[in-house]
Amino acid sequence: MDGEYENMSGRYGKNLSKQKDFWVEFFANRRDGGHRSSAEEFISKEAKEKLFHLDGGETLLDFGCGAGELLVHYAPKYEKMVGVDFSASMLDEASKKISERKCGNISLILADDKTVWDKLESSFDRITAAGVIQYLTLQEIDSFIFNASNYLNKGGKIVLFDILDPRLYPLWKIGLFSQDADFGKILCKIGFEFRIIISAALNNRPRDILEFAHNPDSIRKIANKYGFETTFVQSMYYEYKYHAIISRT
Ligand SMILES: C[S@@+](CC[C@H](N)C(=O)[O-])C[C@H]1O[C@@H](n2cnc3c(N)ncnc32)[C@H](O)[C@@H]1O
Repeated sequence: MDGEYENMSGRYGKNLSKQKDFWVEFFANRRDGGHRSSAEEFISKEAKEKLFHLDGGETLLDFGCGAGELLVHYAPKYEKMVGVDFSASMLDEASKKISERKCGNISLILADDKTVWDKLESSFDRITAAGVIQYLTLQEIDSFIFNASNYLNKGGKIVLFDILDPRLYPLWKIGLFSQDADFGKILCKIGFEFRIIISAALNNRPRDILEFAHNPDSIRKIANKYGFETTFVQSMYYEYKYHAIISRT
């Protein structure tokens, strides 16, 4: 969920990148969730942070589960889990991990944010998505929260992890959060980013995934519309992302 994915949209331009087909194609042959590190130790820590915010429940839907990297870590804590993704290659990887770890409580569904709801056989205590919301427009997030609310058990929560923060991402981009940040390096990065902005403007294309970042207030307003309240917390492992914990008021 780090840099690699986030440079992609800029290469293809605003109109194309806003189309669903773009992301379907982009993830068509992917086999990992693009975490900052694919080391087992790192993913395990990320999963622990997420389990803390998921805060229990017995059944869980992981929308955009990808290669199941987090899902298999959630497995011991849940009775029944469903992983959903529109990428067959991602689900193929997830399926391998599930078999290797003998997680008999996880089933997988190939679907997207529109088709998933008709394929579900039950409702859930937790509906979550990690690093996925940035691939949806605000209109799609609105539909997602509305549909999710119909598949949420009483007392359930929708927990959206790692949403790109438009206020922090530019600061991360210029290296402000680097351990070795100094004035010279930051100035260099600002110059570099400035050149990219000028070039993007001249070529009529966006700079990067920032086009898909969503302000917390936009998420809060959508959640409010459907009778939820939202708590926002900073992502522990991605300085420029936040989590939205959405529950009934
Ligand atoms: C950055 S990866 C994260 C995967 C996983 N949640 C994780 O943290 O390891 C994003 C995933 O969301 C899936 N995805 C993006 N948009 C989707 C959509 N509209 N419907 C279903 N899956 C989607 C992609 O195929 C990809 O597997």
